[in-house]
Amino acid sequence: MDILDLIKNEHRWIEALFLEIEAANDTAKLYNSFNQLAEEINLHAEIEAQIFYPVLRQWGSENKLIDTAQGEHDEVRQTLEEIETLSPTSEEFQAQIQALKQLFQHHIQEEENELFSQVRQHISEAKRRQMASEFAAAKSKLASDTSVVG
Ligand SMILES: [Fe+2]
Repeated sequence: MDILDLIKNEHRWIEALFLEIEAANDTAKLYNSFNQLAEEINLHAEIEAQIFYPVLRQWGSENKLIDTAQGEHDEVRQTLEEIETLSPTSEEFQAQIQALKQLFQHHIQEEENELFSQVRQHISEAKRRQMASEFAAAKSKLASDTSVVG
């Protein structure tokens, strides 16, 4: 598995969590799924910024795509923070979840359709596999650090 497969899998997992939130029929389930979503998105964005984007910036030509992707991460995380202040039973919560879903969908489409093909052209498979291990290691480290704190 290379880093692109790994990131794609995470995107699919986050999409599944959105579906879980939409299907939740009680507040406890909703709350639980939302917390999982928030944690996954924050970890995903953090590790992409640590492991993925810096390597992409080394070949330079696609910095605009990366800037856009990072800007979208910021928007996604801001929206997450706003949602965290809302009651899960409010209409505003549902509306903001839909807004978040749209932002996220747009972001992953751009990554998967535009950025990933550039990555395949510029970064060898061996390097992409190595990046996958780094990505996984950084993620489990960060996940255990945050669970100690939180
Ligand atoms: Fe991303």
